Amino acid sequence: MKTIWVIGGPGCGKGTQCDKIIAKYGFLHISSGDLLREEVASGSPRGTSLQETMSKGLFVPTDIVLQLIKERMDKAKKEDSSIKGFLIDGYPRELDQGILFEKNVCPVDLIIFFDVASETMTKRLLGRSAVSKRADDNEETIKKRIEIFNIKNGEIVEHYKDKVVRINAEGKIDDIFGEVSKALDNI
Ligand code: AP5
Ligand code: MG
Repeated sequence: MKTIWVIGGPGCGKGTQCDKIIAKYGFLHISSGDLLREEVASGSPRGTSLQETMSKGLFVPTDIVLQLIKERMDKAKKEDSSIKGFLIDGYPRELDQGILFEKNVCPVDLIIFFDVASETMTKRLLGRSAVSKRADDNEETIKKRIEIFNIKNGEIVEHYKDKVVRINAEGKIDDIFGEVSKALDNI
């Protein structure tokens, strides 16, 4: 079973490409942001405490997000023996998160990094904000999310350079997926 991290700034296309990957490769898509939004929607005390942090575009505590991911992986391993691998979308967001994952969950096989200019991310997210119900898709929060990404992502890419495949994700969705497929076919 393969474990793949899918990283890149807000609106770079992580979710869009993961949808295409699961259709072709039979991996399980685990989006840290989706797990956290589910937790918020559940109305649990833990969810309520996350909501404010997320709507400001800040990181939630690593132990919470890592626990949610691990629980989902453990459940899937128990219930579905046909899964070929895990696509972890939106984790790690800083180097310490990566190190903790490999220590407490499993080693990573491949890291796909969607590289997009900040202006493109802003444009895509403002486009999505017209239809999304996400509390963080507004101009001020988008700016914060991109700012934090630009500070934190470099250390991940540098530390894991042997496993990172950097994909220029400025182009068309299908062309980007062509590059993604090449990277996945290699493992
Ligand atoms: P998360 O939900 O992961 O948000 P994000 O990283 O900001 O990314 P998005 O989901 O907004 O964008 P995406 O890259 O998936 O792009 P998409 O495919 O949707 O996290 C939300 C929050 O949760 C964080 O801010 C934080 O608070 C918390 N959190 C999550 N993980 C955490 C962690 N590990 N640690 C701590 N806190 C954490 O595409 C965007 C739009 O662009 C769509 O409209 C799409 O149709 C369009 N689009 C996609 N590709 C293209 C293309 N090639 N051309 C044109 N348009 C395109
Ligand atoms: Mg997403």
